[in-house]
Amino acid sequence: MPKKIVAANWKMNKTYQEAEAFVTDFSKKILEIKKTGVILCPPFIALFNIHEKLKNTVAEVGAQNMYFEESGAFTSEISADMLKSVGAKYVILGHSERRHIFGETDQVIRKKIDRALEKGLKPIVCLGELLEERKAGKTLEVVKKQFDAAFDGLSKAEMENCIIAYEPVWAIGTGETATPEQASEVHTEIRKMLIEKFDNKTAENVTIQYGGSVKPSNAKELIESKNIDGFLVGGASLDSNHFSDIVHAVEEYLK
Ligand code: 13P
Repeated sequence: MPKKIVAANWKMNKTYQEAEAFVTDFSKKILEIKKTGVILCPPFIALFNIHEKLKNTVAEVGAQNMYFEESGAFTSEISADMLKSVGAKYVILGHSERRHIFGETDQVIRKKIDRALEKGLKPIVCLGELLEERKAGKTLEVVKKQFDAAFDGLSKAEMENCIIAYEPVWAIGTGETATPEQASEVHTEIRKMLIEKFDNKTAENVTIQYGGSVKPSNAKELIESKNIDGFLVGGASLDSNHFSDIVHAVEEYLK
C-alpha cells in the first residue's frame, strides 16, 4: 500500500511570525500521529525555522517551487541545493497556479522534476484539468498528457521518489470538492498509467494525493475512496486545527 501522506500548501500566505505561531501550536497536535506522513510547504522565508521547530515530530518540510538551473544569474529564483540547505525534503512542482498564472509549461516542469530528483528532493507533481476540459470530457486526456510529460523515461526508483497530486483546477480554492467518486476515478486511471509506464510494484509504491477544497468535513470520505492516498491541502491547511483534523482523519482511517 502506498504511504498515506497529507501535505499543506500554504501558497503566498503567512509571515515568518505567523508561520512560527502555527507550528508551535500544530506540533503539539500531531504527537500521536504514527502512520500518516505529514509535510508542510510554507513560503521560502519560513522553511528553515519550520524545519527546526518540527525536528522532533513526524512532520517534514517542502518548498512550493524551485528553478531547474543549478545556480547563476537567475534573479529571484531558488535552487534545489538552497532548498535542501534549509531542510526541505520535498518540492511542489507543476501546481496549477504555476501553470496558469505564471505560464509554466510541461517542459519547464519536467526540467524541474529532473533537477529535483538529481538533487535528492522529492517532487510533489500536480496534475489536473480545467473546468472547461472536464465539461468537454477531456479530463483523462489532459491528465495523461501532463503525466507523460512529467514521468516519461524516469527510472522506477525515480518514480517512487515522486508523489503525484491530482488537483482538478475547478476544485481549487472554490469550495467545490470533487466527489469521492470523481476523484477516485481519476486516481484509479493514474494508478493504471503508473502500471503501464513502470510496473505493478512501482505503481503500488507511489502516493497519489487529492487536492481541491479538502476540509475536515470531507477528508474522511475522500480517504476511504479507492486509490486516494492522502491530500494536498490549500486553504484548510492555514488553520492548525483544521489541518490537524485532516491529518487525524487519515490516521484514524489507518487504524
Ligand atoms: P484548496 O485546498 O484551497 O482548494 O487548494 C488546493 C491546492 O491548490 C493545494 O495545492
